[in-house]
Amino acid sequence: MIPVNCSFLNAIIEYCRSTGMPMNEAAMAHIGPQPAVIPNDEYIARQSRLTAQLRPNDLVILCAAEEATHSNDVHYPYRTMSDMLYFVGWTEPEAVFTLRCVDGAWVSTLFVQPKDTLKEIWEGRRPGVEGALSSWPVDQAHSIEELGSSLTEYISDSQRILLRTGVRPYVDTLVRDSVERRDRARQHFGTGPVSIEDPSARIAELRLRKSAAEIEQMRFASDVSSFAHVAAMRHSKPGRMEYQFQSTIEGFFVYAGTSGWAYPSIVGCGDNATVLHYKENNDVCEDGEVILIDAGAEFRGYAADITRSWPINGKFTEAQREIYQIVLDAQIAAIDCCRPGLAYTAPHDAARRVLAEGIVRLGITQQTVDEALDMESGDLKKWYMHNTSHWIGLDVHDVGVYKPNGEPRLLEAGMCLTIEPGLYFGAWRPDVDCPEKYANIGIRIEDDVLVTSGEPDVLTSACPKSIEEIEAITGTPF
Ligand code: GLY
Ligand code: MN
Ligand code: MN
Repeated sequence: MIPVNCSFLNAIIEYCRSTGMPMNEAAMAHIGPQPAVIPNDEYIARQSRLTAQLRPNDLVILCAAEEATHSNDVHYPYRTMSDMLYFVGWTEPEAVFTLRCVDGAWVSTLFVQPKDTLKEIWEGRRPGVEGALSSWPVDQAHSIEELGSSLTEYISDSQRILLRTGVRPYVDTLVRDSVERRDRARQHFGTGPVSIEDPSARIAELRLRKSAAEIEQMRFASDVSSFAHVAAMRHSKPGRMEYQFQSTIEGFFVYAGTSGWAYPSIVGCGDNATVLHYKENNDVCEDGEVILIDAGAEFRGYAADITRSWPINGKFTEAQREIYQIVLDAQIAAIDCCRPGLAYTAPHDAARRVLAEGIVRLGITQQTVDEALDMESGDLKKWYMHNTSHWIGLDVHDVGVYKPNGEPRLLEAGMCLTIEPGLYFGAWRPDVDCPEKYANIGIRIEDDVLVTSGEPDVLTSACPKSIEEIEAITGTPF
């Protein structure tokens, strides 16, 4: 085993040697136990932060996502709406959560699938109404079968309904029918109009700033994802199929007790690495090619999002090395801009400048750096066509308005964003003349960064990315 300059991996290897444990077990021993679940107090505080912005005759309605059919009577693995996870932590389908003010106090109510032994024998056990009430952060729980009558009652006391329509058409219809009935009764009872408003922007504003408990979940997802990439690097050899790398990575996500991928893994070798959201993952990885893997686990709803690119045979060619180092320099420059008070666009601007300087230096463009950066006529956008960052949290592309009031948002401690510059030289593209030396090299390097009042905190820093580390790790079996 050759020594590698990667403390995360070295610690795992050392543990493995001293205990005789298999690598996956040693990795988990190093990553440590799963963090504590987010306590109910925190969910209740989140609910209070929302209701503090509301008026006493508002009614909030949040719906679980619909189930999706895979085939005949088989469903896709169920994943609910992130807002439901954020306020209640409830993961089952069909649920509806409401917040309303009764005699000056806000009351939270969760409507759930009731206990049903026959259904539970087939589909799995349910907490039911009693379980919801005893262990979840809600004041009241009812069977989902009572939703229609309860909503009618709640709406009769409300002036404004905060509901994201389109999530559950069935609930939209119930709400509209109730509103209409109330409208018809206006002349009798003198009630005013009821409006329906989307609460998503308000909720996004809360979700944008992560708590310490949320960061712990994200760190766990990040550590697991980092090791999964390391395992894939070490399995590298020419002739392996892209889906075999996918299986190494996703196999470890499951082994580690996460719910699996946070988004479908992108595993592209050679010219497939120049397709940004490549999804076939079914090609052979040839000697001399670079593989790009963009894969991250989801843990208790929280996402990790990592991309690494490495030579399949463990040694960068000169051309690959040149491009890799430019992307890495751009990524490091961008991470350095993840600081409070800087605009969320600062990392993108920093990354683009380093990339532009790089393509000028390598003679990939005859333009000057400033010309290459031009969004209309610059050459950089031929080879770097996406943004450098997105928010990350309960959604891998997490919620949060990027330009509130039309101005780029300033970063604050607690915000999490990805930093993911890349260069993609797809020789197959008819729209550009690809420089021959760099033909079919696709490199992206992506980490997840927490903005703090001090230095940027790279949640995915356990995943190696220097050329030296990558070459030492790649193709070295466990
Ligand atoms: N994994 C998708 C992205 O990086 O945004
Ligand atoms: Mn990303
Ligand atoms: Mn990604």
